[in-house]
Amino acid sequence: MKRIRSPWARPEWMETVAEAQRRAKKRLPPSVYSALIAGSERGTSYDDNQSAFGELGFAPRVADHAATRDLATTVLGQQLSMPVIISPTGVQAVHPDGEVAVARAAAARGVPMGLSSFASKPIEDVTAVHGQTLFQVYWLGSRADMVARLDRARAAGAVGVILTLDWSFSYGRDWGSPAIPERMNLAAMVKFAPEGLRRPAWLLDFARSGRIPDLTTPNIVPPGAPQTPTFFGAYGMWQQTPPPTWEDIAWLRRQWDGPFVLKGISRVDDAQRAVDAGFSAISVSNHGGNNLDGTPAAIRMLPAIAEAVGDEIEVLLDGGIRRGSDVVKAVALGARAVMIGRAYLWGLAAGGQAGVENVLDVLRMGMDSTLLGLGKASVHDLSPADVVVPDGFTRTLGVDPARTLTAVAMP
Ligand SMILES: Cc1cc2nc3c(=O)[nH]c(=O)nc-3n(C[C@H](O)[C@H](O)[C@H](O)COP(=O)(O)O)c2cc1C
Repeated sequence: MKRIRSPWARPEWMETVAEAQRRAKKRLPPSVYSALIAGSERGTSYDDNQSAFGELGFAPRVADHAATRDLATTVLGQQLSMPVIISPTGVQAVHPDGEVAVARAAAARGVPMGLSSFASKPIEDVTAVHGQTLFQVYWLGSRADMVARLDRARAAGAVGVILTLDWSFSYGRDWGSPAIPERMNLAAMVKFAPEGLRRPAWLLDFARSGRIPDLTTPNIVPPGAPQTPTFFGAYGMWQQTPPPTWEDIAWLRRQWDGPFVLKGISRVDDAQRAVDAGFSAISVSNHGGNNLDGTPAAIRMLPAIAEAVGDEIEVLLDGGIRRGSDVVKAVALGARAVMIGRAYLWGLAAGGQAGVENVLDVLRMGMDSTLLGLGKASVHDLSPADVVVPDGFTRTLGVDPARTLTAVAMP
């Protein structure tokens, strides 16, 4: 008999993502915690991303269960131990090891790492610890700047690229935005000292590492550039870059000879254009509710998009994943895999690399338990019939109803 070691025996074990979030809240200075909550305007999309998963149900079986369940899959030609990918986020000030800690955890648990353009660690440090790194870019700067960023990612060993296109530079949140300093100089440290002193464990992590949260974006410029832009400096450059056309997007896709994901798709017509532009995958996403508030939950938009393009392109989903059963719901409704954001950020804040591993283990155990209850031996056996979808749950955006009606009326 295999000896089973219970994670519950470990005092630091976090049994849910909700517990990781509670610990993150206790450990992080309030402005850093609030920056991770993010959201925009009224918070409708942020709330809907999570609550929509609660509207979906399951129809469990009591016998003929599979004794072991296979969670492994492939995405973008990469082997994954389960259908989960780390979604890119800039994790300035969350933990001194930042994205390197996340990448180590992702490598240990067999899932790819999405590294943000706004990450706090150089891509070379991340690819050094994880061979499955996807570099995320925005339409930011000149074409030459964008090509230089891709060249750097290629030289560093990134296995794919994610282009995020749904950012709308929204300006406020009804619950207030955190004050984030332009750069961490003496004046900023004095201003933020009271917050830091209220969170000694967080402060001690940085003190031990001998670093301060420097709020810079090392991957925006070529390696060794004399100056690394600050987060707000890079954000300003991005705001001033004229938004891309579909021709621009197709051009950028051609600059990378390998897997390329378009992240931020809400509409069926945009998904079809991503196929036409030659992308390998799309992520159905509203950027975790941080953008155009009122965009429906990603999981509501998934079924129509998966049905329209799922045979032509790999369809991913991100937004609102907090438990293994959420991953199962998304896969059953047509996602090849999901990307997670805040779930791992809470783990990172609560416990560094071990905290991220804990969150990934929580998702894995939840997926396994859900498959057991459903009587499925593999994630590849899931289908929409495994999920109870209430009437009116889904949202089909970007399909011209007149054209659909005409098509139906034609003999
Ligand atoms: C604090 C924070 C920073 C983010 N930064 C980026 C980013 O730099 N690039 C990007 O493509 N998405 C970014 N995202 C969006 C995530 O990649 C992902 O789409 C979102 O977090 C998914 O929703 P979830 O947090 O509910 O899992 C960010 C999200 C958060 C919460």
